[in-house]
Amino acid sequence: MRIIEAKDYADMSKKASEIISAKVLLTPNCVLGLATGSTPIGTYEHLVKKYQSGDLDFSNVRSINLDEYKGLSGDHDQSYRYFMDTHFFNHVNIDKANTFVPNGLAKDSDTACAEYNALIESFHGADLQLLGIGGNGHIGFNEPSDEFKKGVHCVKLAESTIKANARFFESEEDVPKYAYTMGIGNIMSAKTILLLASGTAKAQAVYDSFFGAITPKVQGSILQLHPDVIVIADQDALSIAKEKGVLV
Ligand code: PGA
Repeated sequence: MRIIEAKDYADMSKKASEIISAKVLLTPNCVLGLATGSTPIGTYEHLVKKYQSGDLDFSNVRSINLDEYKGLSGDHDQSYRYFMDTHFFNHVNIDKANTFVPNGLAKDSDTACAEYNALIESFHGADLQLLGIGGNGHIGFNEPSDEFKKGVHCVKLAESTIKANARFFESEEDVPKYAYTMGIGNIMSAKTILLLASGTAKAQAVYDSFFGAITPKVQGSILQLHPDVIVIADQDALSIAKEKGVLV
């Protein structure tokens, strides 16, 4: 595992975009595993700028997203499909037919999960999986639990996640209670994982995930077992790790 310390959110975003750009340059038909949330927005902005200045070509890239709220259509402004379209896909030359996000409106949850799982397996996992991390250590929507779930599944969101995400909705009641998410096995099948963390609200999760016990109570801790993980965290997100003296 490599931990790259960034000064702040802007620096983290720039560094992350450089790593993703390098992957697209080296492997123009790569499979990018993509993430939503506040954390990667700056990264997508940089990637769009690089595309606009002619430095990147996404025409052969395929993408698979981590998760989607159950019950939201792709044109709902809080759905993750909408997020990806508006923050990234609409501004670059990726073929939308090659961009995959779970279908929040699938009629049958089990079939939807099995199909998305088969899709990820057909790609042999992402070449590069971008991840944020929840304040409770979740990755994708794999919430603290007694087990690590392997495949795509439908999950009941933790109260803390609903509260954290309420800022995007009119009220907490409007936040969907369930979501589809890649499982831990799907995430671990990525060849390289790039996890971003910014702000003091992530400091405990970063410390627990990368310096604590490997436990499903902190789902991100499983990443300690992945052979190629890059963490880009800003100083605030690393503050507890530094206090504890595990980072120099
Ligand atoms: P955030 O979410 O980027 O909005 O903080 C990250 C996550 O919950 O994985």
